[in-house]
Amino acid sequence: AAAEKGGYDHFMLKEIHEQPDSLRNAIRGRLDFNLGSSVLSGMGTSPRDLAEIQRVVFVGCGTSLHAGLVGEYAIEDLADIHAEVQQAAEFRYRNPIIGSRDLVVAISQSGETADTLAAVREANQKGAFVMGLCNVVGSTIARETGRGVYLHAGPEISVASTKAFTCQVAVMLMMALKLGRGRRFSREEGMKFAKAIESIPDLVQKVIEQSDRIAAIAARYAQNEHAFFIGRGPMYPVALEGALKLKEISYIHAEGYHAAELKHGPIALLQEGTPVIALANDIPGKDKTLGNVEECRARGAKILGIVTEGDHEAAEFMDDVIEVPATHPLVATVPTVVALQLLAYHIANERGCEIDQPRNLAKSVTVE
Ligand code: G6P
Repeated sequence: AAAEKGGYDHFMLKEIHEQPDSLRNAIRGRLDFNLGSSVLSGMGTSPRDLAEIQRVVFVGCGTSLHAGLVGEYAIEDLADIHAEVQQAAEFRYRNPIIGSRDLVVAISQSGETADTLAAVREANQKGAFVMGLCNVVGSTIARETGRGVYLHAGPEISVASTKAFTCQVAVMLMMALKLGRGRRFSREEGMKFAKAIESIPDLVQKVIEQSDRIAAIAARYAQNEHAFFIGRGPMYPVALEGALKLKEISYIHAEGYHAAELKHGPIALLQEGTPVIALANDIPGKDKTLGNVEECRARGAKILGIVTEGDHEAAEFMDDVIEVPATHPLVATVPTVVALQLLAYHIANERGCEIDQPRNLAKSVTVE
């Protein structure tokens, strides 16, 4: 088993470190710098089909659901198409209003999650344009969607998902680019964005190189029993995912909130020393997030900020800082989540947790 872990103590750490390679595999051959677009033949080859799409609906569970939330921002921002995310478990019980001009994207690492599969069957029955975004080749969801894009992330063993999430986001950014090029995105803009996608593995590598620093910070947060993650815009789903990673493997009670929602409840729970992990990347909305950080600090919270490299102004607001490289706001979700994966891992490790096999959790949930 030690050999399978490639010298790492846990599969999760190995998989975190594999991300630059997994992402290269997910991206390879899928960017077209000439057209400033992406090549995802699994989305259907007819440009007419894609031009007719009037709405994109992502369905998934757990970490895959969080990836869908990033996808929602990407599709609306880059492709100008209405996009939404639905919890797979809810989809078929809520009269989904979908038809042939709706693209339903089922996101599932394993391709076996029962709720997501049920949503796929429902969407197929309603005649939607259904596609899968799966990692496991030949899995049930991949087969039943018929159309789709594989992640090529390689096998993910750790129950807590890491490289599948980042590859899901990378593929959705490429989807958004492709849909956007048929709509409001010019060739030049497309090329610029394609370049940003191509840089993702290097951005992630820069975060992984900070693993020891992040471990030192983690040691200072490992004794707390509560933590809040806040973010805005595309960093809101990253806050949700950061909180999920932490609670899954360290058993710390962690909550992710939109930074603006703090005032509507959770701020009541802040006490002297309660950790708040603030995603204060230099993207639109940063100033407002920094305002929320001030509000937390005034209640005695201890602030760990994720900030853009070199942003000394934002760093001033924080007790501790992890820097992520500057890039397009949507692309920045990927290196940012990697910082949070490492934070969760090192905190759990500090607490002596099981990590690869957290209590009560399964890698794939095949009952509804
Ligand atoms: C389980 C796993 C999670 C995963 C979720 C969805 O809860 O523990 O890591 O995100 O299922 O799995 P899927 O294979 O559909 O992405």
